[in-house]
Amino acid sequence: MIAHRRQFLESAAAAGVAAFAGLRPLQAADADIDINPSQPGPLINPHIYGHFIEHLGGVIYDGIWVGRDSKIPNIDGIRTQFVDDMKRIGAPNLRWPGGCFADGYHWRDGIGASGKRPRTYNYWETRMPQGLHAVESNQFGIHEFMRLCRLVGAEAYLAANVGSGTPQEFHDWVSYSNAPAGTLSLADERATNGDKEPFNVKYWGVGNESWGCGGNMSGGEYATEYRKYIAQFPVYQRPFFVATGPRGHSADGDVGWTEGFFGGLQNVRGLGVRVDGFALHYYTDFRQSAEDGATFDAKGWYAVLHKGVHIENVINDHWGIMSKYDPQQRTKFVIDEWGNWYRGGTELGPEYILSQTSTLRDALHTAMTFDIFNRHADKIEMANVAQTINCLHSLFAAVGDKYTRTPAYYAFEMYRPHMGGRLVTARIDIPELTVPLLEGSARLPGLSGSASVRDKSLTVTLTNPSLQDRVVARIRLSGGARLREGRATVLTHQDMHATNTFDKPNEVGLAALAVQVSGDTATIIVPKQAVVAVLLQLV
Ligand code: AHR
Repeated sequence: MIAHRRQFLESAAAAGVAAFAGLRPLQAADADIDINPSQPGPLINPHIYGHFIEHLGGVIYDGIWVGRDSKIPNIDGIRTQFVDDMKRIGAPNLRWPGGCFADGYHWRDGIGASGKRPRTYNYWETRMPQGLHAVESNQFGIHEFMRLCRLVGAEAYLAANVGSGTPQEFHDWVSYSNAPAGTLSLADERATNGDKEPFNVKYWGVGNESWGCGGNMSGGEYATEYRKYIAQFPVYQRPFFVATGPRGHSADGDVGWTEGFFGGLQNVRGLGVRVDGFALHYYTDFRQSAEDGATFDAKGWYAVLHKGVHIENVINDHWGIMSKYDPQQRTKFVIDEWGNWYRGGTELGPEYILSQTSTLRDALHTAMTFDIFNRHADKIEMANVAQTINCLHSLFAAVGDKYTRTPAYYAFEMYRPHMGGRLVTARIDIPELTVPLLEGSARLPGLSGSASVRDKSLTVTLTNPSLQDRVVARIRLSGGARLREGRATVLTHQDMHATNTFDKPNEVGLAALAVQVSGDTATIIVPKQAVVAVLLQLV
């Protein structure tokens, strides 16, 4: 079969197709990809491509909020460039205000005249006191956050304080946000503070990491709290409740949390209360590694990608437990923190705590993660990268008037056409990539991918994790579909460490890639260490 495919490629090259001229004999596997676009599967919820921003170091302050008097271009204090770039990728949501910060945050501190707002405790203040606004200044509160959401066109996802708050504080925040104008006194107060119309927030997180910084609870203890917090919830519109889920990157995947929580909710009628979303956290955690975000060898490249794709096992394991308690599978995942987390050493500056260098490796990790999310679209309502700017797996870095998009940003741009599409199965016939450098000669997909269809547009995204070999990929449509035209973009660089800096912001970026289209087949060459997005128009 491989010989057959090679024969095809040789004849394609012989036909003189410009993009394929110079094709050398293949040294590695090539790939046959079979897709039937006439059998669309579940909707890929646009919220899968969501965001997370926390009051932590330079995320909110400087990253997003530069202040109304700043010389940095801004809209009501919000960095204009950030708004423009978020619009460009169609950012569907923003999770706020934390993170660990959320369970120490009291929303009333962030309303009213900015000069009169109190300076308050921030979870990160005593742990990483060098951080920007380590003592919380409360200049960015719910009104500023909702202004940001409106500017970007994103939906708000608020994380409520369970760790140090009360159900009443939570319910008041809901009423303040959602009560129609002229009803409750809290709605009047909102109007006095500048927003007559309700915010209509649908997504409410009931705490964050309640197994850790959000309260150090067991799954069963949290189930009791969860009931209390949602029992008297003011329902101005149908809420979507997100319960705290497991620490998926812990050694055992934290399946005990999921059992404890769902088991704790169980009564004779089943779950008894609604759990719309279950907040899985999965960090590709390399904090203990000798390498950092910028300096790594080939082993480090593959190790990060390998640990990244392990999220698929974690999704499947927890879904299995959830299905036991919720056979109708009404509860969906909200993977509201995911991304790479390296040891310190590459921060933008000491005050920009938990910021780190993002390289081409992070872009490939992003793409492979998105392919997994797409393929599990039936299970996932939302996902939120941690965090959007100046922290961990960021899309942007900003310090004062300096600003850049990171390599990871471009994966969001490339995958945008999947948002709101219908998943179609892509059968990728290629041997797995064996990595002798990793323990047990671990394996990675020879080519990671996913596909979706919307009307007559078919999007196929592919990632080649190999540092050595390109892959010639032949996408063949079954079910009688035929192609009208195709185009593709590629994200790659000859240096696996390539990154964008304030001085060289365009070192890593998108380029056009040739696609050969004929009848029911599209053929592309996926370079080594590259992400490719192929946009095909069906007849
Ligand atoms: O994203 C940084 C921190 O990681 C968040 O505050 C917390 O929820 C997680 O542990």
